[in-house]
Amino acid sequence: MEIQKPIFFLFVASLLSLSTPTLLSVHGQILPIVDDHRANATAMKTYIVHVQKPKGNKFLRFKDRVAWYKSFLPNTTVDSGEPRLIYAYRHVISGFAAMLTPKEVEAMETMEGFVLAYPEMEHVAQTTSSPDFLGLSRWDGLWVDTFFGQGQIIGVIDTGVKPTHPSFREHGNMPPPPPKWRGSCYWGPPICNEKLIGAMAFRHRLNPNPEDTDGHGTHTASTAAGSFVDDAEVLGQARGTASGTAPRAHLAIYKVLFKRPGRPSTGTDSDILKGIDQAIRDHVDILSMSLGSTNRSLHESSIAIASYAAITKGIFPCAAAANEGPFKSLIANDAPWILTVGASTMDRRIRAIVKLGNGMEFYGESAYQPSPSNSTQLPLVYPGALGTTDAFFCLNGSLNTFNVSGKIVLCARGNIDDVEKGKIVKAAGGAGMILANLRFMGNTTFADPHVLPVAHVDDADARQIADYVQTTQNATAAITFNGTQFGVHPAPAVAYFSSRGPSLSNANIIKPDVIAPGVNILAAWPFEVGQNRTNTSRTFKFVSGTSMATPHVSGVVALLRNNHPNWSVAAIKSAIMTTAYTQDRDGNPIADQYNNGTASVFAMGSGHVDPVAANDPGLIYDIQPHDYIRYLCGSGFTDRQVTAIVRGAVNCSRVRAISAEQLNYPSIAVYLSSNSTTKTIKRTVTNVGDANTVYRIQFEEPEGVRVDVSPKTLQFSQVDEKKSYNVTLNIIGGTAPVAGQVSEGHLAWVSGKYYVRSPIAVTFT
Ligand SMILES: *[C@@H]1O[C@H](CO)[C@@H](O)[C@H](O)[C@H]1NC(C)=O
Ligand SMILES: *[C@@H]1O[C@H](CO)[C@@H](O)[C@H](O)[C@H]1NC(C)=O
Ligand SMILES: *[C@@H]1O[C@H](CO)[C@@H](O)[C@H](O)[C@H]1NC(C)=O
Ligand SMILES: *[C@@H]1O[C@H](CO)[C@@H](O)[C@H](O)[C@H]1NC(C)=O
Ligand SMILES: *[C@@H]1O[C@H](CO)[C@@H](O)[C@H](O)[C@H]1NC(C)=O
Ligand SMILES: *[C@@H]1O[C@H](CO)[C@@H](O)[C@H](O)[C@H]1NC(C)=O
Ligand SMILES: *[C@@H]1O[C@H](CO)[C@@H](O)[C@H](O)[C@H]1NC(C)=O
Ligand SMILES: *[C@@H]1O[C@H](CO)[C@@H](O)[C@H](O)[C@H]1NC(C)=O
Ligand SMILES: *[C@@H]1O[C@H](CO)[C@@H](O)[C@H](O)[C@H]1NC(C)=O
Ligand SMILES: *[C@@H]1O[C@H](CO)[C@@H](O)[C@H](O)[C@H]1NC(C)=O
Ligand SMILES: *[C@@H]1O[C@H](CO)[C@@H](O)[C@H](O)[C@H]1NC(C)=O
Ligand SMILES: *[C@@H]1O[C@H](CO)[C@@H](O)[C@H](O)[C@H]1NC(C)=O
Repeated sequence: MEIQKPIFFLFVASLLSLSTPTLLSVHGQILPIVDDHRANATAMKTYIVHVQKPKGNKFLRFKDRVAWYKSFLPNTTVDSGEPRLIYAYRHVISGFAAMLTPKEVEAMETMEGFVLAYPEMEHVAQTTSSPDFLGLSRWDGLWVDTFFGQGQIIGVIDTGVKPTHPSFREHGNMPPPPPKWRGSCYWGPPICNEKLIGAMAFRHRLNPNPEDTDGHGTHTASTAAGSFVDDAEVLGQARGTASGTAPRAHLAIYKVLFKRPGRPSTGTDSDILKGIDQAIRDHVDILSMSLGSTNRSLHESSIAIASYAAITKGIFPCAAAANEGPFKSLIANDAPWILTVGASTMDRRIRAIVKLGNGMEFYGESAYQPSPSNSTQLPLVYPGALGTTDAFFCLNGSLNTFNVSGKIVLCARGNIDDVEKGKIVKAAGGAGMILANLRFMGNTTFADPHVLPVAHVDDADARQIADYVQTTQNATAAITFNGTQFGVHPAPAVAYFSSRGPSLSNANIIKPDVIAPGVNILAAWPFEVGQNRTNTSRTFKFVSGTSMATPHVSGVVALLRNNHPNWSVAAIKSAIMTTAYTQDRDGNPIADQYNNGTASVFAMGSGHVDPVAANDPGLIYDIQPHDYIRYLCGSGFTDRQVTAIVRGAVNCSRVRAISAEQLNYPSIAVYLSSNSTTKTIKRTVTNVGDANTVYRIQFEEPEGVRVDVSPKTLQFSQVDEKKSYNVTLNIIGGTAPVAGQVSEGHLAWVSGKYYVRSPIAVTFT
């Protein structure tokens, strides 16, 4: 528990449900909005409608544009008298959100200037020691070089903020926001200040108060750019100085996710588009988006489309990959112009120890650590061994037929929130709970504020404990606590819940792009944590999720932009990806906590973010917004779909379309088959390192594939010089392995100083 040096934490946490089968069971689904307050639910829905600008009309005034939008509507109101038009957008799309019936949309399709429309759906929040783990040190290095991200504006698209939390106080002399800033802050001074410069909420016709009633947005905002707060802790654990990754960046909060009882906070496409529209208008530098839904095509994803608008204005979009791992291809925010972030562990655990009657010991986790621990062996019961599925999960009511009074109860994780489960065991008289991972949850454990002694143990330990109970008469156990431990191996490792590729909708571009700390992240929380807390003004909480990984990277982007103000969005993204590391602290390949194997490229992307290395990448793979149009046209999107995404009439037959693998992306993914045994891919790198540098190619061939790179040397004589090379991938022997199999390799351009790495994934079809 003692910490020799200041510890910096960022929280990234899971929404309660993040870790529960409740959420897992809805993997991939997007729930249609039950539009109980806006329209006739039986017939009317909110549609997002994309339209073209009429030819020859410049739309000098926004008013003209609104009139044009309205001309597509059958009339201006619905039967109840409410206006049909919900939002007219300025930047994110050429179009609007309106209440319509499917029939009315059908009629609209024949109108001149109509592009496409889809009923809006919901997006879910992807629900904490981290700058230290990222290699940022308070007193030297990158933080100082980049002035801690000073002057950058991070727009957080989330559940709002608790503005009075000390993480949002000005620390030292924060400068005012840059002159370009146009946003406003709901509360005004002194609650709003040079740290918290903007806060707005977007909920059509409802309360516009951006106050966070969930916690998720407060946590993510403080992770990205929270000020230094000394003596932060969670129930006495992980005590140290908390801060965001870019502690001197400004925060602008856009609340688009709203709490609903018993569910994670959700938001609708129309509100999300409006929030991002405003953020672009306000001139934020970075969009931090810990929300999304999986398996949505790019032309119907509000976040993808709004992010495209953002990059055309030089705004950096960072978004969560979702929490639907370890099952493959359930991934959110997978557009190639977004930096998509997965979640990994750090080397910290809040340790709870299980000791069985036979002397065996297992390490688990819990944030609630009553002191002194009671090491008395108590009877251990396993309701799941004898009873129903309900008893296996220790659901409310299922423990009545067992005498759990004064005993330690072994419960499987899932179905309901972990802390709720502890309350049920406590109410039934239990003295403690061993919370057991299911097999697919592997080694990922959470440090939660339980209400009784709990140890959350990994899957392998859980099975040994279950074996012991079932084979031992009068089984006993004790749960004791050992506080905050650092130096846990292996670290980092990919969390089981982190969403995995391959994406089904982006033509196989590797996603996620990178991983960052996302398990038990300590960051600001608006409410008391645990039962006996009285100090509510400065609460922190551990939360886990790709939601928590994302703002770490948003903060890193703020640091890099301060040092490299002229770099494009794609250049910064490339710097982060090509310098990411793929070995853990012991020098082994980064592991996947789901199966203890090496994390695949579709679990960790290019690897773990390394901000210090990203600040000086040597070479970058640049991409202009126009290149994405060529990519979209080459990936099977229709003219209308591309037009909707890029807000301008596109005729793909007039665009030099490229296949997805030819996009100048910092990672490489190709399909090969017996019919198509070879592919040559072109990449272009820009020298952003030392002027005179020679790079040589190094590569590791994917199994079953021969790699040729031409040329094998790149010689640069000046900064900003560009050089191209070709990579040829060939199936060895001409016969593809089993269809669906993926082989991984990588290539790297290496000089004495730089190592510019790109993973390669070959999918056999
Ligand atoms: C909704 O629409 C249906 C059919 O269009 C109609 O019968 C019903 O009365 C409407 N309900 C409301 C609340 O307007
Ligand atoms: C608007 O149009 C709808 C359907 O076309 C119709 O049912 C409704 O009565 C109209 N309302 C007004 C105010 O004209
Ligand atoms: C993803 O979406 C596609 C197209 O909508 C659908 O065919 C497929 O079944 C979905 N996959 C999953 C895993 O939900
Ligand atoms: C530990 O628990 C046992 C059984 O409940 C109880 O008898 C004992 O008093 C406890 N010891 C302490 C130090 O609380
Ligand atoms: C369990 O269910 C009972 C009866 O429905 C309810 O009163 C109680 O609050 C529930 N307990 C928990 C911990 O949810
Ligand atoms: C288990 O406990 C019961 C009741 O206390 C006792 O009779 C029995 O001998 C115990 N069995 C073992 C194997 O210790
Ligand atoms: C408890 O933690 C300390 C270090 O903080 C360590 O030396 C000790 O071995 C731990 N105890 C157990 C039982 O793991
Ligand atoms: C919380 O308060 C209750 C009742 O006052 C007490 O029994 C319990 O031990 C306290 N828990 C902690 C962690 O202090
Ligand atoms: C969990 O970690 C332990 C100890 O490092 C290891 O033996 C086990 O294989 C891991 N299991 C998984 C599923 O990662
Ligand atoms: C899991 O990984 C750890 C650390 O790399 C290793 O020590 C252990 O042997 C592995 N366990 C299995 C079952 O592979
Ligand atoms: C490969 O070619 C054969 C014969 O032309 C065809 O039947 C098969 O569908 C092709 N396979 C793929 C993956 O294109
Ligand atoms: C890459 O390949 C293309 C065509 O396949 C060729 O025209 C070009 O010269 C090659 N470039 C290099 C650097 O080898």
